[in-house]
Amino acid sequence: MTVTYDYAGKRVLVTGGTRGLGAGIAHAFAAAGADVVICARNPAPASSGVPLPTGAAGGRIRFVRADVRDADDVERLFDGLDRLDVVVNNAGGSPYANVAESSARLHRRVLELNLLAPLLVARRAHPLLAASGGSVIMIGSVSGVRPSPGTSAYGAAKAGLHHLAACLAAEWAPAVRVNTVVVGLARTEEAAGHYGGAFGQVAATIPAGRMATAEDVAAACLWLAAPGYVTGAQILVHGGGETPAWNWLTSDEISR
Ligand SMILES: NC(=O)c1ccc[n+]([C@@H]2O[C@H](COP(=O)([O-])OP(=O)(O)OC[C@H]3O[C@@H](n4cnc5c(N)ncnc54)[C@H](OP(=O)(O)O)[C@@H]3O)[C@@H](O)[C@H]2O)c1
Repeated sequence: MTVTYDYAGKRVLVTGGTRGLGAGIAHAFAAAGADVVICARNPAPASSGVPLPTGAAGGRIRFVRADVRDADDVERLFDGLDRLDVVVNNAGGSPYANVAESSARLHRRVLELNLLAPLLVARRAHPLLAASGGSVIMIGSVSGVRPSPGTSAYGAAKAGLHHLAACLAAEWAPAVRVNTVVVGLARTEEAAGHYGGAFGQVAATIPAGRMATAEDVAAACLWLAAPGYVTGAQILVHGGGETPAWNWLTSDEISR
């Protein structure tokens, strides 16, 4: 079975669309016919294949340089955007650092990127989305639903982001839907550093037997952005979560 979407005539903004999950989401909307705007602090690396050329296979992708933490940059990003149907607040992330050993400045920057910036972008997009009957998708994380040692500020920001989405869904209904994709451990170039490149071992802790891909996350975004009743929801794209360590221990006991 093939599921296809037709986003022709729709405009989609994907923050952080130059690499990783954001690039996959931008490609998927463009392939479905959307006119896609991506932003980041730097243009896409050549290896990402972004921007996609205009063509029969899909819409097009346009890059705007913008730091989503900066209100002036966000204003510039929206300059000339007369229509908007979907915003995917994807830009996010955090270095790995224990709270006691990292600076207050780092924690503030992590909260700005993962919580305040999506709020800034969603707020600026609201009138355009209300006019089009559009929707916002927050890219959340399992780090926001279970302890996230080493990325505590990030986990707290993502938990806040999930809650923000539910609040905005209630404030902006019925004109604008707001949902969250709670992403599990995902296989991206940047994630290689985070997981020490041990993708195989990490995959073994996931019931689905593999890490999430950009395509998995993009599929959830395409579905959530299509007209529907779902708002204020958290869609878990985590392959069943993470098998708890005690489960491995007790299975070993049993097999002995
Ligand atoms: N990978 C995972 O395992 C995983 C798991 C759960 C959730 N997530 C979430 O999924 C999203 C994407 O993650 P990813 O792994 O694909 O990240 P990534 O590969 O590091 O890409 C991040 C993107 O965001 C952009 N970006 C970063 N800071 C920005 C800023 N201040 N303003 C504008 N753009 C900015 C980056 O470009 P520049 O650096 O050039 O600005 C890049 O395009 C994030 O929200 C992350 O928290 C990821």
